[in-house]
Formats: sequence, C-alpha cells, structure tokens
Amino acid sequence: ARNQGALWVGEDGRIKGYDWSVDDDATFKSFLSSHGWADADAGSGNTKATKVKVVRSNDARNEFFFPGFIDTHIHAPQFPNIGLFGSSGLLDWLNEYTFPMEASFGAKSDPKNQQTDPKKTPPEGLRVYDQVVARTLAHGTTCASYFATIHVPATNALAALCHSHGQRAFIGRVCMDNKDQCPSYYVDQSAEQGFNATKSTIEYIHTLDPKGALINPIITPRFAPSCSKESLAGLGKLAASYSPPLHIQTHISESTAEVDLVQQLFPDSTSYADVYDKANLLTNRTILAHGVHLTKEELNLIRTRGSKVSHCPASNSALGSGLAPVRFMLDQGVTVGLGTDVSGGYSPSILEAARQASLISRLVQYSSEYQEKTGNKTSDGSEKLTVDEALYLATRGGAAVVDMADDLGGFDKGMIWDAQLIELGAVKNSTTSPLETKGLVSRAVATGTVGDVDLFGDETWQEQIQKWMWSGDDRNVKNVWVQGKLVHTRK
Ligand code: GUN
Ligand code: FE
Repeated sequence: ARNQGALWVGEDGRIKGYDWSVDDDATFKSFLSSHGWADADAGSGNTKATKVKVVRSNDARNEFFFPGFIDTHIHAPQFPNIGLFGSSGLLDWLNEYTFPMEASFGAKSDPKNQQTDPKKTPPEGLRVYDQVVARTLAHGTTCASYFATIHVPATNALAALCHSHGQRAFIGRVCMDNKDQCPSYYVDQSAEQGFNATKSTIEYIHTLDPKGALINPIITPRFAPSCSKESLAGLGKLAASYSPPLHIQTHISESTAEVDLVQQLFPDSTSYADVYDKANLLTNRTILAHGVHLTKEELNLIRTRGSKVSHCPASNSALGSGLAPVRFMLDQGVTVGLGTDVSGGYSPSILEAARQASLISRLVQYSSEYQEKTGNKTSDGSEKLTVDEALYLATRGGAAVVDMADDLGGFDKGMIWDAQLIELGAVKNSTTSPLETKGLVSRAVATGTVGDVDLFGDETWQEQIQKWMWSGDDRNVKNVWVQGKLVHTRK
C-alpha cells in the first residue's frame, strides 16, 4: 500500500494529514471528518491550487509520489550551453563558453551594464529563462537556487518567470568586480556598483513576493577570484543586514588551478574557505558549490559556521574538476545537497545528479587525493552512496542546504506539498518469450513504451526505486506540484 490512500493539503500548501489505507471517495470523506475537516471540499482529483486531495493513482502503471527535487546550484543563463564544454578546464571554460553567453543577457544599449529596467532584458534572454524554468520543473525540480548574471533587468526577469511558473527559487544577481580576472565586457564597474545593483534586485524580489513564500533573493559573489576583497566584505554585510539574514551562494574549491589562483590572489588568507570566512560569507544560510578539493580543516570551518555544500558531480566530471568525497564531507558533519551546475553540468536533471553522485562515490577510493585525505585507509566500501542516500541528498539534503529542512524534502505532516508524481510504466509483457522454457522466465523480453523504466514484474518496491534512479528521466515525471499547486503536467 505504498501509494494507496489520501493526502490532504491545506490552502497554505502544507500537508495536513494522510491515510494510506484510504482509496475511495466515501472513505476519504470520513477520513476528513474524523480529522475535523468535514467542511472541506474533497474536490475532484488533484489539480486544484488549494485544498488538494491526492489519491493513489495507477498501480498498473507503477506510479508513486516523491518529494520534489531540490537543485541547490544551477546557472540559468548557461542553459543554451548545455553539452558544450569541449576538453577545457574550469578557468578556460569560463572565458571561452560561459562569460560570452552570460554577457548576452545584458541590454545591447547598455555597454557598462548599468541598466536596471526589467524591460531591458533581451527577448532571447527571456526565452531562455522561460525554458529553464519549464525544463527543470519537467524534471521534477520544485526548488532551485539560481545564479543569474550581473544584469539587474534579466535577474529580475528570472525571478518573475519562476514566480509565474510557480517554481520555488532563490535568485542571485552574480557579483564580479575584479577587473584583472573578469573580461572587460562582463564585469561590475566597481564593488559599490555591484553592491547597489544587487540591492536593487533584492528590493525587486521582495516586492514581487513580500513574504518570500516562493521566491527569495540570494547574495551571489561568483567566486573569490572574480571578486575584490572589498566586494566580498560588502556582500557579507549586506546579507547580514536583513532579518532573517539573506541566503548566500558561491563556488569554492572546484578545481586545483582555481585553488592555486585563490592562494595567489588572497595571500593573507590561510585557505580558500578562510577568504569567505574573513568576509562573513560563511553563514548557516550559505551554499558552497563543489568543494571538491576542500581540506579537512576547511570542512571543519564550514561545519562550524553551519554552511552547506552543493555537490555537483556531473559538472565535476565534465570539466575534469575532480572527485568530490561526499561520504568524507558527510562524516565531517557537513550538510550536503545536489546541484546540476548547468552548464558545467550537462543535464538539468537532479535524478542525473543523484546517479552521478552514486557513480563518483564508487570511484573516489581510487583518487590519490582522497587516499591522502582519509589517511590512506583501505576502502571498506563505506564511501559508496546507496540509492536511498543519493535520493536523500536530492530531496531532504537539498532542503537542509537551502535551510528549509522543516518545510521541504519529505512528506511529513506540516511540510509543504512540493511533490512529483512518478510513473515508471507498465510491467513488460513477457508471455511470448522463447526463453521461458529455459528458466529465464520474464527477463528476456522488453517491449514497453518509450520512456518506461524496464520493469519485469518481480521487482520489490526497493528495486523499482533503484531502477528509477539508474534509468529514469523526465518522461517518468507525470505531474509536479509546488506549495500544493499543480505547476507541471507531462505532455
Ligand atoms: N566558478 C565560477 N563561475 C563558475 C561557473 O559559472 N560555473 C562553475 N561550474 N564554476 C564556476
Ligand atoms: Fe556553478
């Protein structure tokens, strides 16, 4: 009875209660009245924005509800570059692919990027942002922490599009004012100009969603090399000046060349993490992307500050950044979630990120860096993530990373109904298999619909979930809800 029953979501989008033994309307009504919800509209189906009744759907198609995915690190303007990274490493890739793409989100009439009117976003930029939100929702991403660009108009447009699509989002205007490290065509004029531009996007987002029910601003210094010390310190102060303090996101220790560069640029700091700490950017609402090469001392500092790590395995492999030791980070007490890091990452899917996290956890024991970090301990297999753990990182882990662990990532009573309906598809018809007589029974024939996960009928519930993680994709995402509201239906 994993998926059989009824669930009641209130007008506030939160789960009020459920009973997995309920599967018909009459019983559902009595379930409601026994919980004091007799006056509630039982509704018809699960498409209403409020008072959603969710019942078991189709067992023959192997459907189940799953918490929405949380993408803790994604660059919306890099979406058109998905799959394009050649054989370049991080720093070359930024200059070759990323900065030119991001720069195109500025108004052509504004070479110094001073424009703030949202209407000045180039139409192509609006189209891309609209696609990003639609595509990530289609992959079951109910909450995303976005890097936008340095442009205020386009950043505000991304916030407005998330709001209108109904996707939960953190929206960050990217800050980068180091003229030695950033291209002249894509750089803040000064720390002060970047600070003021950031403030104006914060104000826009606070006006758009005054309670922050869905959309929230996030302070976003790109990464240490692209920012002056002054800018980093200013942004740390800016985050702290709000109540509650604003979220912060940046990159850390992604590639070894980057780590070396940071050491050169910030000789007074004892480590990469220390650069951010000195600017008060390591808070319990800080998301640090990658962290591939963080030392044990840095992880300790990050844990002490309560900052979180966004693990982006697809990107780390695509850009050749390295193998992030997730189990080691978790063992050091650091909170970890998953990020697609589009377009360092080649896929907008958090299911793909979960898959890649599992793969990397199986390979990390062969990295000499890992062996040194863990004292050359012989692998006992404990560094490997299980499917359950990878999916945990995709949901509850991500919720903790965005500091919403009480609200998101699961179906506990009182949590917000940010959810996806997964449809694995029908069990394969195998009755014609010539191999049956040889004892191979059903596993010989797979004649399902394109997009179905191959099921042969004898899988346990756990095995179905394993098959979903390893071979599922957006074709298995039938519906997506955010805050109790239906925001995506598969075509
Ligand atoms: N470091 C600084 N900027 C970026 C970016 O856009 N993507 C990735 N993966 N790393 C970065
Ligand atoms: Fe990134």
